[in-house]
Amino acid sequence: MSKHIESVNYGLEKIFKDAKDFLPLLGTDYVEFYVGNAKQAAHFYKTAFGFQSLAYSGLETGDREKASYVLKQDKIKLVLTTPLTSTSKINDHLAKHGDGVKVIALWVDDAKKAYEETTSRGAKSYLEPVVEQDENGEVVKSGIYTYGETVHMFVERKNYKGTFLPGYQKWESDYNPKPVGLKYIDHMVGNVGWGEMNQWVDWYEKVMGFVNFLSFDDKQIHTEYSALMSKVMSNGNGRIKFPINEPAKAAKRSQIEEYLDFYEGPGVQHLAVATDDIITTVAQLKARGVEFLPPPPQDYYDNIPARLGAHKDMMKEDIKELQRLSILVDADEEGYLLQIFTKPIEDRPTLFFEIIQRMGAKGFGAGNFKALFESIEREQSKRGTL
Ligand code: FE2
Repeated sequence: MSKHIESVNYGLEKIFKDAKDFLPLLGTDYVEFYVGNAKQAAHFYKTAFGFQSLAYSGLETGDREKASYVLKQDKIKLVLTTPLTSTSKINDHLAKHGDGVKVIALWVDDAKKAYEETTSRGAKSYLEPVVEQDENGEVVKSGIYTYGETVHMFVERKNYKGTFLPGYQKWESDYNPKPVGLKYIDHMVGNVGWGEMNQWVDWYEKVMGFVNFLSFDDKQIHTEYSALMSKVMSNGNGRIKFPINEPAKAAKRSQIEEYLDFYEGPGVQHLAVATDDIITTVAQLKARGVEFLPPPPQDYYDNIPARLGAHKDMMKEDIKELQRLSILVDADEEGYLLQIFTKPIEDRPTLFFEIIQRMGAKGFGAGNFKALFESIEREQSKRGTL
């Protein structure tokens, strides 16, 4: 049995005990992407991923600088933002990083206090607390920088009844492809530079009150060619989980290094979104044109019963069906999980999505890392970036 299993058992109770309560987080509020063409990106997320139109802001709502489309699927809210003029600072972000995640917004009860608690512990300010109002009430927002140019926005919405945020109007569309069963964000992963992982682990502990509840070193996460290290940070109630990766030295170029080269700095590597029925979700995503990493070899599927160990009889899914869809399986002592990874969703090999179904397991699929990374390396090799 690999080491990560012990670490998982080390457990969520310890998280509750060790996490500091100066920054209570109710959940993820939204994730904002800066993109080159928000109108077209919104069409992609509706058509391919089954997101629903929720809200809009732009010229029609009085914003002369940028247009934003808000999409929703169950608890997940994505905001896609594009600059409308050459003078917008968003252009600098886009020119440097390409399409990617700018804001991971966290839902809080008190955005002013969240700002004070984090900036007094060393966070760099992005937005001082500001009250925004419209006929539906008021929202308080504040923001701090995390790794790279990525931002955590704190959103307090207890006195707001509107669709999304002040400044946005409801977005009614005649084009409404069905959802694919995506429910909530399970975790969001950040890639940071060489030797910077522990610095950001310390930052999340000190500034945000998070705890490190899982660690993987380069001896656990490596293939014949490449390696990385990862530590998983969680807030006190376990709703927010941020694994942090850094590249490690190996014979060839780590996928994290490829990301850092093309994103031109640290940033969000993947969003893992949860489903209750991964077979249906993935079958629909594939039918709608979402591209996933190529499947692992046959022996991966032959070995699934052995990998599941005690949970073998608990598994409801048909292995042949999982193989047909290239879904991966991993287990820890508390259960198993099913997961699959998309190819990058933009031309730069940077951001991608993970679809995950947890059947009791609390880990991140460490047993799949080797198969997964070999699959990524085959893609890197095609790009000439291995
Ligand atoms: Fe993940």
